[in-house]
Amino acid sequence: MSDAYQAVPIADRVWWVGAIDWSIRDFHGYATRQGTTYNAYLVQADPVVLIDTVKAPFMDEMLARIASVVDPAKIRYIVSNHAEMDHSGGLPRAVEAIRPDKVFASANGVKALEAQFHWGRAVDAVKDGQELRLGDVTLRFLETRMLHWPDSMMTYLVPGDVLFSQDGFGMHLASVERFADEVPTDVLYAEAAKYYANILLPLSSFVTKLLARVAEMNLAPKIIAPDHGPVYRKDPGWIVKQYAKWAAQKPTRKAVVAFDTMWGSTEAMARAIGEGLAAGGASPVRLLPMHASHRSDVATELLEAGALVAGSPTINNTIFPTMGDLLAYLGGLRRTNLVGAAFGSYGWSGEAVGRIEERLKAMEVEIVADALKVLYVPDSSALDRCRALGSHVAAVMKGRAAAAP
Ligand code: FEO
Repeated sequence: MSDAYQAVPIADRVWWVGAIDWSIRDFHGYATRQGTTYNAYLVQADPVVLIDTVKAPFMDEMLARIASVVDPAKIRYIVSNHAEMDHSGGLPRAVEAIRPDKVFASANGVKALEAQFHWGRAVDAVKDGQELRLGDVTLRFLETRMLHWPDSMMTYLVPGDVLFSQDGFGMHLASVERFADEVPTDVLYAEAAKYYANILLPLSSFVTKLLARVAEMNLAPKIIAPDHGPVYRKDPGWIVKQYAKWAAQKPTRKAVVAFDTMWGSTEAMARAIGEGLAAGGASPVRLLPMHASHRSDVATELLEAGALVAGSPTINNTIFPTMGDLLAYLGGLRRTNLVGAAFGSYGWSGEAVGRIEERLKAMEVEIVADALKVLYVPDSSALDRCRALGSHVAAVMKGRAAAAP
């Protein structure tokens, strides 16, 4: 085994043995400009346990990190917290290399692993709250169905109060640093928010329930060890607090204007709407032209927004392709508590604006202003109507934000 890869201690007898993917730039539609990590953890209990594996091409790295502290053959149990391929993809090879006595997963995880690998291997299903005693340490399994897949579970280690939280509390950030307290707070916040906005947002009601349940169970993790990004060893409550805030999706005064343009007219409308939003008290106001913006960044901007105003020219009797892509993506993320409006310029028939409004309604965005269409190029009167639309949306947002508990 190469000694290029070393395990990193994260708690007493607990090691990070994951892999760093510096190259990935697209994670099923999410722009991962800073790469990611696939985290796996080794618990040197009696017997030794491996928690999660890594994406299949990174297995050499994981096995080398394990070998830096223990002979991989000493691992007798593997816990699979989540059967998505970036974590379970390496499991068949891990089983082949390690030959563990048992593999544990949730009941849904057992089914998912069989459906992925068709391996006919016995995987032991564990129930919510079930404990596994390993000498003087205990692993407790917490089923977290739909956070973010039906199979998802977390594993809690005592003593030490380490929560192995699979995708929960994670972020896509490749780094030399293994701990959140070593990463600049602005980077940590931005990447954690992006991860929540693009992965966990549609499951926010489950996040709220999980946080309540953890409090009821008097679990107070001292370390949160997710499957992506850095480990929280100091103040893990920081990320829990952000999750509680993001899950609530309270109305705010931030406005997002997402649009695309063919010949500059819809952009001129967007700029005037932005001026109206700012004049009406929206803050901050973010204009995002889709020929220069990634869908996952728009989703991130929307995480703490109160309004989505969407604009498109009409092309071939329908929405501009970049806006169609954006609205399909945002539709799946199901952001709640947004107000909005549709706008755009057109030359012949102008169907795009109505279609955008329909898509916003399907996303349960509350439409608070009539759709605004302009023939060809907006004149000063049309731009005034755009500013008025922006001011009106801002007034509604301010009222909702002020009324929010
Ligand atoms: Fe990181 Fe849901 O996989």
